[in-house]
Amino acid sequence: MDVRTPTILCVDDEPLNLKLLKTLLQWRKYEAITAEDGYNALEALQEHKIDVVLLDIMMPGIDGYEVCKRIKGDERYKNIPVVMITALSDTESRIKGIEAGAEDFIVKPFDRGEVIARIKMLLKMKSLNDSLLSAYEGINNLTTFGEEMIRDFDPVRFNLASNVDSIVNKIIRHRDSDYEKPALVIIHSIDDTDNWRMYEFKQGQLISTPIDPDIACNKCVHLKQKAHMYYCNDVCAMSEEEAKPFVRNFKGIGIEVNNIIWYLGEHFCVFALNYGKEVTKYDTSVLKNLVMQGLFLRSLGSQVAETQGAFEYIIYALARAAEANDEATGNHIMRVGENCVVIAKELGLPEHFVETLRIQAPLHDVGKIHIHPDILRKPGKLTQEEFNIMKLHTIYGTKIIGNHRRLTIARSIALTHHERWDGSGYPHGFEGDDIPIEGRIINIADQYDALRSPRSYKPGFDHQTTCKVITEGDGRTMPQHFDPQVLAAFKETATQLEEIYERLRD
Ligand code: C2E
Ligand code: SIN
Ligand code: SIN
Ligand code: FE
Repeated sequence: MDVRTPTILCVDDEPLNLKLLKTLLQWRKYEAITAEDGYNALEALQEHKIDVVLLDIMMPGIDGYEVCKRIKGDERYKNIPVVMITALSDTESRIKGIEAGAEDFIVKPFDRGEVIARIKMLLKMKSLNDSLLSAYEGINNLTTFGEEMIRDFDPVRFNLASNVDSIVNKIIRHRDSDYEKPALVIIHSIDDTDNWRMYEFKQGQLISTPIDPDIACNKCVHLKQKAHMYYCNDVCAMSEEEAKPFVRNFKGIGIEVNNIIWYLGEHFCVFALNYGKEVTKYDTSVLKNLVMQGLFLRSLGSQVAETQGAFEYIIYALARAAEANDEATGNHIMRVGENCVVIAKELGLPEHFVETLRIQAPLHDVGKIHIHPDILRKPGKLTQEEFNIMKLHTIYGTKIIGNHRRLTIARSIALTHHERWDGSGYPHGFEGDDIPIEGRIINIADQYDALRSPRSYKPGFDHQTTCKVITEGDGRTMPQHFDPQVLAAFKETATQLEEIYERLRD
C-alpha cells in the first residue's frame, strides 16, 4: 500500500528540543520536519504536506499562539491538528492555546510515550477528518458531474465515449496534494471494440494512452464473474483467483499496482489505481455512481433518438400516404424539405428551425388526400371550379395535422405554402410579413421542384427555364409573389437546388 508516511512539523527555537523530537519521531518511522521559528513553520507548511504540528509557545518573532491562529485561520491548513508545548500547570497559557485553536497540549519536559500516544491519536482524528472531507468531495463530484452532464445534454447527439474524459477528470489525481485520489485510471469500454485506455494527469493535462487488450482483456472477463465492485488495499494479499493475474499483467507493462478499486459493468469497466490513502467501499460507490450517470444519460439519449427517429418516420409515412390518389410525385416531398434547408440556411435562420423545416416540410401537401383523384390526375388545365376545390388542400392539411405542439411548423406550412408576398395567394390572401417565414420559404422551394418535375398537366422543365420562371415570371408565376429576401436567397442557392434535384431525382 502506498499510504504516505505521516509527516510531523516540529517548531521550537531550542535546537536541542528539535533534535530530541526529531530523533523520537524518526525512531517511530514518522517523517519529521523542523522549524526554529514561526516564520519558518509557516513556510514549511507550504512546502510539505503536514499531518500534525508540534508547536512551542515562546519563540522570537511570532509566538506559538500567533502561528496557531494563522494555521487555523487558513483554509489550506485549518484541518491540521496543532499540539502546543507548554510548561507544567500553566493554566493561563493553556487557555490562550485553546483560544488560538490548538487541539492538544504536551507538557514540558515531555514524556516520550505520551508524545507518541498523542500524535497517534491526532493522526487518527486527522485521517477520519480527511475521509469525511473526501466523502463530501465525492458527493460534490457526483452532483456537479450530474449537473454538468445534464446542462450540456443533447439526447440525440449524446456520446458516452466523449464523456469518459470528463468522468475521469472528476476522479483522477491532478496534483501532488490530491494524494487521496487515484494516480491512474484505466477504462475498458467494451462496446467500443474492446477499447482499453489508461489515463494519467501529467503537466496539467489529462493524458490517455491505449493499452493492448491482451494485457488485461481475458483477465477482466475472469474478474467480472468474481465481483462487480471491488476494492483492495493490499494487492500482495490478493488471492490468486482475484485480481492477481490482472495486477501481474500490468506490472508487465510497467504499472505497479499498490491499491485498486474497480467497477465492472456490461458495457464499461473502470479501474482506479494507486490512491495515496486506504481505499474504501465508498470509493467504489462513487465510481459506480459516476459510471451509472453516464450510462443513464446514454440510455436516455438512445431512447430519445429512437423516438425522434420514429417521429420522422411517421411524418414521411403520412406524407406518402397522402399521395395515394395523386400522380406519382416520387421524391418530391423529400426534395422540397432539402430545398427549404438550403434556403433557410442562406437566410441565416437558427439550426434548430432549419432542422424542423427539413423534417416537417414534406407534410405541405398532406391535405391533397381529400382532393378527388379526377382533379389531381387531370391531364389538362383545371377549370376555375376545379382549382377552387384544389385550393382547399391547404385547409384540409391543417385539419389532418391538428394542433400538436411539435407539429406547429408543419401546420403552418400546410396552410401558407401557396400564399404570395403580394397578397394574390390562397387560402387567405395574406400579404408580406403576415405570411410566416416557413410559408415564404416553402413557396419557392415547392415551385422550383414542381416546375422541374413532369406533371400530368405539364412537362418537366430544365434548371435554366425553371429559374427564369421564378426570377423573371411567366404570367402565372411572377417575381412579386416572393419575399424579396427569400428570392435573393433562392438566387444565391439555385445551383444547390439543382444538385438536390439531380441527387434525389426519381
Ligand atoms: P403542384 O403540381 O405540386 O404545383 C405546385 C405549384 O408549383 C403550383 O401551385 C404553382 O405555383 C407551381 N407550378 C406548377 N406547375 C407550374 C407551371 O407549369 N408553371 C408555373 N408558372 N407554375 C407552376 P398552384 O398553381 O397553386 O397549384 C397547386 C396544385 O394544384 C399543383 O401542385 C397541382 O397539384 C394542382 N394543379 C395546378 N394547376 C393544375 C393543372 O393545370 N392541372 C392539374 N391536373 N393540376 C393542377
Ligand atoms: C451493470 O452494472 O452491469 C450495468 C452497467 C453497464 O451496463 O455497464
Ligand atoms: C447502452 O448500452 O446503450 C445502454 C446501457 C444502459 O444504459 O443500460
Ligand atoms: Fe400545395
